[in-house]
Amino acid sequence: MIVRPDDYDPYSHAAMADPEPFYAALRETGAPHYLPQYDAWAITCFDDVTRASLRAHALDFTRGQTPGQVLLGEPVPATFMTLNQEAHRRWRNVLAPYYTPAGVAAEEARLTELSRSILAPLLAQGRMDVFGDFANRVMVFNAGYNLGFPEQDAIWVRERIDDMMHREPGQVGMVSARNQEAAGALFGYLHQFVGGLRAEPGRALRHTKALIEAEVDGQRLSDEEMVSNLFSLLVTGSETTPMAVAGTIYYLARHPDQKRRVLADPGLAGAAFRETLRFDQPTNMLARYVHSDFELGGRQIRAGQRLLLIYAAANRDETRFERAHDYDLGRYAGNGAIVRDASFGAGAHFCLGMHLALTAGTIMVRQLLEAVGDFELIEAGCRRAYGEFLAGFTQVPIQFQPIDGGRGQ
Ligand code: HEM
Repeated sequence: MIVRPDDYDPYSHAAMADPEPFYAALRETGAPHYLPQYDAWAITCFDDVTRASLRAHALDFTRGQTPGQVLLGEPVPATFMTLNQEAHRRWRNVLAPYYTPAGVAAEEARLTELSRSILAPLLAQGRMDVFGDFANRVMVFNAGYNLGFPEQDAIWVRERIDDMMHREPGQVGMVSARNQEAAGALFGYLHQFVGGLRAEPGRALRHTKALIEAEVDGQRLSDEEMVSNLFSLLVTGSETTPMAVAGTIYYLARHPDQKRRVLADPGLAGAAFRETLRFDQPTNMLARYVHSDFELGGRQIRAGQRLLLIYAAANRDETRFERAHDYDLGRYAGNGAIVRDASFGAGAHFCLGMHLALTAGTIMVRQLLEAVGDFELIEAGCRRAYGEFLAGFTQVPIQFQPIDGGRGQ
């Protein structure tokens, strides 16, 4: 399909179904592209996405982070992510120790065991959906563990999030009855959960305990803020990593030479996971509200306008990555491990969960490949997310030789 930059609308059916041709046309302009219908700029070049991310002081995060919040006026949850500058930094620091390399390393054995326990029963079946049966469950249980939810609630919570995120073809924003009912049920659950912890503070665990006990500049979080933070941590902590695990298995199946490489050397699992993030970025884009004027890529950005930071487009920038449209895990192998890409953003709001995502993603891809060995993709059963915000696979069924007890487990 040939498209022109002016054809781009993040909420058009064509862009939500397959944004790549639009991103190629936008990148070709070499500059931010103005979208008059949203008074917004679509930013697709790697350097521009990075530079805009580093201008946090010129942006107003209280107006939201997601395209729905910033472009469509959807409600903005009151979390540390939607605070500006010093307040953002101080509240983010409440959780930061859990997400440093050392914080994540302390959880590695538990993550490995969690992943193994979910994978093991699937091996005898000779068939699994890498997203739904495996990776998504691991990340949901992990997010539930971090926040101190009862284990049996984690899957229920996950289903509500899926229903909230679901978009029918052509649907703009979170407006369907299915979205609204799920949001109502989930927020109701979280309010009850927080209410229970207020009554019995000793029951708060880990990240929730840190948040509920934190006092920053003499302020504590209200119930509403606690609920918003828990909700946002659930979504960010469980949504994108499984998409990238499923995507890694998909792209390895579609590139047999690279599949053979990783099967021969499972130490390359992390390189394959990172190349999948670059090649098929699950956080397709985030949005920003502009607080004060600045120049970007030769364009004058004005206060009151919006920015779309399109990470997925930046990760395919031909001026940044050689053979940008080839899937090549070799980029991240050996010395390539330090390649700088747009997968986790940049600047003050840089992804808090990067080390967790890389560690958990690598564990899951490696365990799966070591256990099943060679496998076949059931291409007809693969499904992708639809919408402007998240991208990637939500169903990747594979089949393999059934395994008794699990090779390499
Ligand atoms: C492969 C999986 C993931 C990808 C691709 C990803 C990507 C991103 C990106 C692009 C941003 C925006 C960064 C910016 O504004 O410059 C972000 C923010 C964030 N991510 Fe992730 N993320 C992933 C996994 C996770 C996980 C597992 C967590 C765990 C809780 C997490 C928590 C967050 C949080 C809290 C923010 C907001 C940070 C802030 O505003 O200070 N992410 N992520």
